[in-house]
Parts: sequence; structure tokens; C-alpha cells
Amino acid sequence: MSHVFAHRGSSGTYPENTMLAFKKAEKTGCYGLEFDVHMTKDREVVVIHDETVNRTTNGRGAIKDLTLDEIKKLYIKSGWLRKEKIPSLDEVLEWAKSNEMLINIELKNDKIFYEGLEELVVQKVANHQLQDRIIYSTFNHESVKILKKITSCEVAALYSRKGINPVLLAQSLNADAIHANFRVMTPQLMRDCQQHGIPVRLYTLNKPALIQKWLNEGLSGVITDYPELAQKLKDKKE
Ligand code: G3P
Ligand code: MG
Repeated sequence: MSHVFAHRGSSGTYPENTMLAFKKAEKTGCYGLEFDVHMTKDREVVVIHDETVNRTTNGRGAIKDLTLDEIKKLYIKSGWLRKEKIPSLDEVLEWAKSNEMLINIELKNDKIFYEGLEELVVQKVANHQLQDRIIYSTFNHESVKILKKITSCEVAALYSRKGINPVLLAQSLNADAIHANFRVMTPQLMRDCQQHGIPVRLYTLNKPALIQKWLNEGLSGVITDYPELAQKLKDKKE
């Protein structure tokens, strides 16, 4: 069974990693939501892709050097009339209680070391009692090991480099699943994973032909900026 995950929300159509994009994703009826988290200067967790606020907001600076209050004063740059802000993880988790989507929290700790991010995120999920609906993922494979020690939720190893054997990677990290850039996946590698019971989710599948191809290969998760499109293709196939 393949499932559709909205990558940074319905980010092909709405500003990425915003409540607007998440709510629009939910309306498509897709199975899951993927978003990215960083730690602020005052050890809060915010939902944003980059290490800095420069690209997506009207502010400047690294998340690690800004407090939650400072971050909350910023607006997301977009052509939309409605002024979106960077959501905190708590806000998103609070909203998530109103629906049934699976939540893939990607810890963005591969470029910057955020001491204790894993514990902080796991604690917030527990506070909101959402443990049953969470998949953690990260490109930081040391962090995968930490997460596996402190949570019983699914933990996926992310990778985007060619030449990696996903079965060996998952086994070496004791990871539950593989999240890979579609460019480095092959049908054979996917079958190897399937034979070892390792779910494979691919990002970022946006073109119809690409989504169709991997649905035909029986992948576990389509991580896409266009969940509505992917959902339609999936429904047509089933
Ligand atoms: O989690 C899949 C995907 O989001 C990883 O890449 O850079 O879009 O966070 P990125
Ligand atoms: Mg991501």
C-alpha cells in the first residue's frame, strides 16, 4: 500500500511549512504530512526548512541565534494576502489533534548541531499524546541512532547520495524505514528493501509520470509538493 505525504504541506501551491500549507494538505485527504524542524536560541522548536529565516521570511538570521518571540514577529514572504508566520512545533502538533494525518517530523540537524533536539521533539510529541502518528526522519544518522534509543515511534534514515545501499544503511542504524531522494533509488534497490521489510518513501515526487512509475513499483510513501495530484493518481491506480 502506498501513502501520500504532503512535503512541507501543500508546498507546490502554498507557502512551504506554514499552517496554510498544512491545512490545505489535510483537505486533499492525503495520508501524511512532512515538515522540517530547527531549534531556536531559547530552545524552542520551530517549523522551517532552512537554517536561517532569510529565504522564506522578511527577516534575517539563523534560527539558532533567534528566540521564538523574535521569530514570531516575522512574516512569510509570499504573494498571499493572508500573512503567514513560522509555526512552532507545538502549534502544529496542537492542530494535528484535529485530524488523523500521519506526521513526519524531519529533524534538520545535519548541517547544524542542536544539542538535545531529539529529546525536545520527542517530549513535545509526548506532551501532545501523538506518539501513535509520528515518523521521525533525519539526514543525520547519529541522530537516527539517538531517536531509536529514546522513542518507540518509527524512525527513518534520510539520504540523497548515490552509491548508498539502503538495506545496509537501515540495518546499520536500526532504522525502521528509508526516506530517499528519488534520484538515487532504483527499482532493484527498492525491491531489496521490500524483501527486508523496510518501507521506502521517496522525495520529492512531483511529476505525474514519476509518481506513476514509483506507485507501480509499490513504494510505501510518495513525498510530494502536490498531494492532491498524487492522491488522484494513487486513487486511479487502486
Ligand atoms: O523528508 C524528505 C525531504 O523533505 C528531505 O529534503 O530538503 O526537502 O527537507 P528537504
Ligand atoms: Mg524535509
